[in-house]
Amino acid sequence: MRLPEPATDLTLDEIELGNPDTFLRDDVDGIFALLRRERPVGFDAENTPPGLPPGPGFWSFVRHRDLFGISRDHETLTSVPAVGIFDYPVRTSIINMDPPTHTRYRLIVNRGFTPRMIGRLEESIGAQARRIVEAIAPRGEADLVTDIAAKLPGRVIASMLGVPEADQEMIQRHTNAFIAPSDPEYAGTVEDMVAASDAIEDYAKYLGRMRREHPTDDVTSAIVNAEVPGEDGAPATISMDDFAEFVKLLLVGGNETTRNAITHGVRLFDEFPDQKARFLADPEGLATTTVDEILRYSTPVNLMRRTATRDVEVAGAPIRRGDKVVMWYRSGNFDDEVFDDPYRFDVTRRPNEHLTFGAGGPHYCLGANLARVEIGVMLATLYERLADLEVTGPPVRMRAVSSHAVKHLPVRWTPR
Ligand code: HEM
Repeated sequence: MRLPEPATDLTLDEIELGNPDTFLRDDVDGIFALLRRERPVGFDAENTPPGLPPGPGFWSFVRHRDLFGISRDHETLTSVPAVGIFDYPVRTSIINMDPPTHTRYRLIVNRGFTPRMIGRLEESIGAQARRIVEAIAPRGEADLVTDIAAKLPGRVIASMLGVPEADQEMIQRHTNAFIAPSDPEYAGTVEDMVAASDAIEDYAKYLGRMRREHPTDDVTSAIVNAEVPGEDGAPATISMDDFAEFVKLLLVGGNETTRNAITHGVRLFDEFPDQKARFLADPEGLATTTVDEILRYSTPVNLMRRTATRDVEVAGAPIRRGDKVVMWYRSGNFDDEVFDDPYRFDVTRRPNEHLTFGAGGPHYCLGANLARVEIGVMLATLYERLADLEVTGPPVRMRAVSSHAVKHLPVRWTPR
């Protein structure tokens, strides 16, 4: 039996996609279902956070089919100056560049993220996951987000970059503040966000200077000592500023999104116990499809934005040069034009053309393979060791337009 489409009691005029409070509601899926049906392309107001000049608003695209074209046409729809709705006064490296500069820089880090490299990391990811779970197993209860889900991605990216364990908590505090300038628990103001951004960059420069003098085999050493062809084509070492932006993007990208995917995985297993049982009956065989279904259903990154470089019509919308164009991945991932019975959480779903890592194009997530391994390994380890793990309270959502993030999720199990 097909699961019904979720509902909302809002009318089209009442929907505010630019307002972080919208994403604290229980009916976000219902809102997007209504939009796909009745307003697949629309123009939304920006609820610009205090501390930024008011923004002009943005086009919203919510259908799966419209997002591919937007994502691939970087000449018309650029990633400069920003890929979030608001123009915060911070830079974030390759995600804000267009080809050909983007391609030159992306090639530098690609080496650290090939499937072969991730395959090599898999064993150490398993060992880290076991360590995290062993440490809390005797307690019988935890905050899944802070005690478990946040720890693995934080440690994995830190060890890839050579960040010592003692500094990881500080880094995580700053990456939280960086992604959540609208959430009072993490930052609360644009100034806090900028301060966090500066702190991460300062830390990255400190790491970079060390690795320039004493290179190791970590990704930091590879980036800081890489030669990039300069604008004139002659090879040049990457500047310390560019390097710091790079590391900041990896720390932010590597920490928050994967933590949310792991958390949503546990929440979804709790909500759909038949699917949890199915996965646990064959965790190796179903790892790939389960992880991708969690990624589709949870969509940790709600959106990416582009900016029009010329007047253009997209899916009938008269977009003008300079307009902001937002791709709502969280909506596209439930589009019934592409997904059969989209609200069914199905750990065997195949094909699964979700947009969680982007809709193709040059910026497709560099860490997709790494994230998939981390999510699969963490969930398998968690249920192997804490078989009766259950969620005991509602998720505390983060107040943010761009992330589908959970700050806290109480869980319990029989202490071991
Ligand atoms: C579940 C986890 C993750 C999700 C949902 C996610 C999502 C995304 C999305 C939506 C984009 C932009 C795609 C586009 O604009 O076309 C992106 C880009 C990126 N991600 Fe991820 N990501 C995840 C994990 C990671 C990890 C673990 C890393 C690295 C350690 C990472 C590093 C990056 C980088 C560097 C980019 C920019 C790529 C570029 O501009 O060329 N991500 N990610």
